[in-house]
Amino acid sequence: MLPDLVMSKVWKIGVAGLGTVGGGLVKYLVEHPGFAPAGGKAVVTGVCARSRSRPRDFDIATFDWYDDPVLLAQSPQTDIFVELIGGSDGPAKVAVEAALALGKPVVTANKALIAEHGAELARLAEAHGAPLLFEAAVMGGTPAVKMLREAMVGDEVISVAGILNGTCNYILTEMESHERAFADVLGEAQAKGYAEADPTMDIGGFDAAHKITILAALAFGCAPNYAAAEIEGVERVELLDIRLARELGYRIRLTASAEKAGDGISVRVHPALAPIAHPLSQTVGATNALFIKGVRIPRIFIQGPGAGEGPTAAACCADIADVMTGAVRPVFQKPATQLKTPKPIDAAHRTGQAYLRLMVRDEAGALAAVTEALAEAGVSIDSFLQKPVEDEGRVPIVLTTHEVAETKIMDAVTRLAALPQVLESPRLIRIARA
Ligand SMILES: NC(=O)c1ccc[n+]([C@@H]2O[C@H](COP(=O)([O-])OP(=O)(O)OC[C@H]3O[C@@H](n4cnc5c(N)ncnc54)[C@H](OP(=O)(O)O)[C@@H]3O)[C@@H](O)[C@H]2O)c1
Repeated sequence: MLPDLVMSKVWKIGVAGLGTVGGGLVKYLVEHPGFAPAGGKAVVTGVCARSRSRPRDFDIATFDWYDDPVLLAQSPQTDIFVELIGGSDGPAKVAVEAALALGKPVVTANKALIAEHGAELARLAEAHGAPLLFEAAVMGGTPAVKMLREAMVGDEVISVAGILNGTCNYILTEMESHERAFADVLGEAQAKGYAEADPTMDIGGFDAAHKITILAALAFGCAPNYAAAEIEGVERVELLDIRLARELGYRIRLTASAEKAGDGISVRVHPALAPIAHPLSQTVGATNALFIKGVRIPRIFIQGPGAGEGPTAAACCADIADVMTGAVRPVFQKPATQLKTPKPIDAAHRTGQAYLRLMVRDEAGALAAVTEALAEAGVSIDSFLQKPVEDEGRVPIVLTTHEVAETKIMDAVTRLAALPQVLESPRLIRIARA
């Protein structure tokens, strides 16, 4: 039985940022006054955005208006401060700090803020006994954060990996299914509002890197360490690679992964080939997907929306519900004072398989030179595809390697690039682990 105070309390919610997520949350709470997960009620009392006059889907006159999110965070009329402005620094960070310093619960969807300043914010939150919750920051409404923070603490997580950026997955899916070039699909996605006017955060892999940095901290009980993430986006994925990968039985996906080895952790975002029947390949359009591997729970797979008004507002409501029920957890998996910055995994200890595309001169001995370079690097071939001769005597060759140390694959790329028969820089794409 929950205490009477929890059952009857009216929680005054202050929402800063009224865009896709903030607007969706306010609309939901206004339209569902019965949202009372612990008996008590959640009522939006104050709001803040950049423009007071911008048309909204709800009547802002029914709320107290604040020009400054810090004043909303500090207002005695705000019991729970919800930050939905965005950005790793600036007003979002200052307002979150102001709320936490007063011991006020904070709910946010801001992955950049949590990935880049999570450890210091966790220390501030826990020092003042204030919950800091961010379910909507990763995979939108698909509950990855609570799964790692709460449900997986009884096990030891070995790795988390998946598709965490819907825009990139949409672009790759469209390129494959409609045989379209990257720039063409991106332009259309921007025109339809699926991709931002400045798509760098998405297509450069930075958004996925923010999310996997947060998941790594939750999975392994360490400080988020965005600066150490290795990031490669989808800008260099060509339709040619998508076609060739398909001939070899793969699809290309932008994967985000975090893996533990000894006391090291690697956090990476890069395009990867996944077998066509693999759940990552079967994740199409803007959908997100995540594998969690543990010691006693060997494999969990979750898939669902990663963005959008409805799913993200639902995730924020779930966090508000946690505050209302009085659930208390460390911000990451361990108390903030015990969070350590993880060491990166030494590249020499990393192994994997790779796809290599080469453009070679159509002449006797070219193939022998390629296989010799691979053998010298200690890389053996798993599958091989030679395409018909292109213009001017150029032959595309594609191969996949067996599992080998990544340093050997990099050595092979260097040796291949130096061959006189190889006409372009070899294209390397890693193969996702099964
Ligand atoms: N969109 C998604 O599906 C999604 C999914 C997961 C996480 N997120 C995260 O959720 C957060 C919000 O994203 P969003 O897509 O909702 O963004 P958005 O649509 O661009 O909305 C941002 C809101 O913040 C307000 N704002 C901007 N600068 C401000 C300032 N200095 N002071 C007060 N308000 C300010 C804007 O005011 P005006 O309305 O007046 O311009 C707008 O209402 C971000 O951290 C984002 O990464 C979004």
